[in-house]
Amino acid sequence: METKDTKPWLDTSDPQKFINNTAKFNDLMMMYRCAIREVRTKLEVLDDEFSVENQRNPISFIKTRIKKPESIYRKLQKLGCTFTPENIVEQLHDVAGIRVVCAFVDDIYTIADLLSSQDDITVLQVKDYIKNPKPNGYRSYHMIIEIPVFFSKGKTPMKVEIQIRTNGMDFWATLEHQLRYKKGIEQMEGYEEISKELMQCAAAVIEMDNEMQNIKNKIGKFHDI
Ligand code: GTP
Ligand code: MG
Repeated sequence: METKDTKPWLDTSDPQKFINNTAKFNDLMMMYRCAIREVRTKLEVLDDEFSVENQRNPISFIKTRIKKPESIYRKLQKLGCTFTPENIVEQLHDVAGIRVVCAFVDDIYTIADLLSSQDDITVLQVKDYIKNPKPNGYRSYHMIIEIPVFFSKGKTPMKVEIQIRTNGMDFWATLEHQLRYKKGIEQMEGYEEISKELMQCAAAVIEMDNEMQNIKNKIGKFHDI
């Protein structure tokens, strides 16, 4: 990929420039933190409204994170881009991340639809790993959205990655992440067997999610839940 900016942030030959760039980086991270706050509030509003109307919470919990500087640096390097504010904004979609953990599978689609239909939100990308799970068994509904954030200098559209999943999907993904994700353990002896076992765990979670959804559907025939 072609590199746009030839003056990377990590150029330490001019200390003053390096200090200024650090300030710019901190400013950009502040902007991503604010974008996360905006989206979190929207999700909390939806959950609050739903709980008043239906006496239950579709969202179990929300977790947020800002990508660490070293991960930003590594990802840009992988893309063949230098560490500049322009490249961070243009090339990376997951600097600001929100994970929304829902009670039931249908809550995921309700939350995703309600959020997507808000007129200040632009959906840039959707990856439905629930309808199309990853070969390793990973499931989640991923969206990259853009949301305007109002700063003193004006309105800035900010990208946020949202992962929406059930408690079951989160249980599996969190443990699988600790055990395997990006750990490069593919070469170890017995890896195939471990992969198979993790797939079996994923299948058990799918069955449980579907069973709970079926129970909810049955109860839903008698009163709104
Ligand atoms: P990244 O380079 O990891 O950001 O992947 P991507 O840009 O191809 O995006 P994708 O939507 O596939 O995945 C983004 C995020 O989803 C990851 O950073 C993880 O948080 C999560 N994720 C994706 N695949 C897996 C997986 O196999 N296992 C687990 N535990 N998490 C995953
Ligand atoms: Mg990522």
